[in-house]
Amino acid sequence: MQELEQLVAWAVSEFESTTEPAHLESIKGRFLGRNGSVTELLKGLGKLPGAERKAAGAAINAAKQSIESALQSRREALRAAALEAQLQREALDVTLPGRGAGVGGLHPVTRTLGRIEQLFRSVGFDVADGPEIETDFHNFTALNTPADHPARSMHDTFYIENAPGVLLRTHTSPIQVRYMQAHVARHARRSPMPPVRIIAPGRVYRVDSDATHSPMFHQVEGLWVDENVSFADLKGVLTDFLRRFFERQDLAVRFRPSFFPFTEPSAEVDMGCVFCSGKGCRVCGHTGWLEIAGSGMVHPNVLRQVGIDSERYLGFAFGMGPDRLTMLRYGINDLRLFYDGDLRFLGQFA
Ligand code: DAH
Repeated sequence: MQELEQLVAWAVSEFESTTEPAHLESIKGRFLGRNGSVTELLKGLGKLPGAERKAAGAAINAAKQSIESALQSRREALRAAALEAQLQREALDVTLPGRGAGVGGLHPVTRTLGRIEQLFRSVGFDVADGPEIETDFHNFTALNTPADHPARSMHDTFYIENAPGVLLRTHTSPIQVRYMQAHVARHARRSPMPPVRIIAPGRVYRVDSDATHSPMFHQVEGLWVDENVSFADLKGVLTDFLRRFFERQDLAVRFRPSFFPFTEPSAEVDMGCVFCSGKGCRVCGHTGWLEIAGSGMVHPNVLRQVGIDSERYLGFAFGMGPDRLTMLRYGINDLRLFYDGDLRFLGQFA
């Protein structure tokens, strides 16, 4: 009897000792298999005297049942544990937000360019375009820039290797030249020539890189050529544009004498600092003013170069920096944020 109890206890502890279902089944064989301990005991019944046989048989069968039920509950425990482990492994947090297709947004500079186009279109300007890989002729020569001008130096301009006279445009001004050439060709026989009235936004390139300079940045060129365009028109158009762009009717705008080879006279356009309203702060270098564009009356040499009668027609031109306008409008302090492609930054404008 005691022997049977020990056998059951031993079987139970053997079952408990494994966590592998396959191993459990092989342990089962040691007790209940064809040559297992319990089977051997049952076989031995025949040798017992008839009087003891019945009681012994009942006791062995009871032990066998105990072992079978211990086996069954161990099987179930292992199956439950396996299921639990699988659930853990394949856990799915249904409360997480879905992956879904994110909604994109326009880059802040693209938004500014769109806004600039909209404002200039509303006062009759067309939008023109030109190549980013330019010729030295369109980028410099046709714009009255002398052969020894410092802007042509390798330190400022990206030149294309093995392609003499080919470069990445350093400003959008060559679009003036291309547009006027095409305009003259298109209206060769018309007199007076229809006015040229365009803006030309685009990417430009210079050898420059720090918190306020990127080797690639944007400009918007402006050009109005007609019989009676004056410096007063230039002041009016730019002042009106800046006030509408910044939504401030009292925004101060000033024109400072300057020099550009392709304009005469030339002026630097400043606007009152939008951060301190002209009182002076870090952004405006304590001057109360922010430089926003270069401008001037188109130099007669530029008009002559494209075949426009510089005695009859005159015009104004300007070139401004939409990256700067974007920084001022949204209060951004590092130009490089525009080109890092960091969604945490860009997402704020979506
Ligand atoms: N192209 C000049 C620059 O990149 C900006 C500029 C100044 C453009 C005067 C103009 C202008 O059209 O009239 O610095």
